[in-house]
Amino acid sequence: LSSIRVDIADVAVGSQITVKWLGKPVFIRRRTAEEIEQARADNTANDLIDALARNNNRDAALSADDENRAMDEAGEWLVMMGVCTHLGCVPLGDGAGEYGGWYCPCHGSHYDTSGRIRKGPAPENLPVPPAVFIDETTIKLG
Ligand code: FES
Repeated sequence: LSSIRVDIADVAVGSQITVKWLGKPVFIRRRTAEEIEQARADNTANDLIDALARNNNRDAALSADDENRAMDEAGEWLVMMGVCTHLGCVPLGDGAGEYGGWYCPCHGSHYDTSGRIRKGPAPENLPVPPAVFIDETTIKLG
């Protein structure tokens, strides 16, 4: 498996970068306190479509709770494949869609601030790829 190192030192709170890994986009978002709060409040929302965390770094049976998807305990860093789980378009980010997270314009899938699918044809949450902090400002993908 090929891996890359991503320098996240310049990623400001409330912004995200997109990097390419294995030919696919990966979103790395540094969430605001409000986004984290919303994501965690929505752990118990009754319109969650996919009940699983979809986090390659954790047990596959874990629930879709935001704590099981974020990179760090505080939940500031969220790393996900930028590939819609419907038919593979690249969702728009930076608060897009009805749930303030990501929106796929191809067929109208709305993802929340945790990257969980909430509305539209996509069947699964945006998956979290193999990712680990190497130091405070570097994330290794793969
Ligand atoms: Fe994203 Fe269809 S590819 S909604």
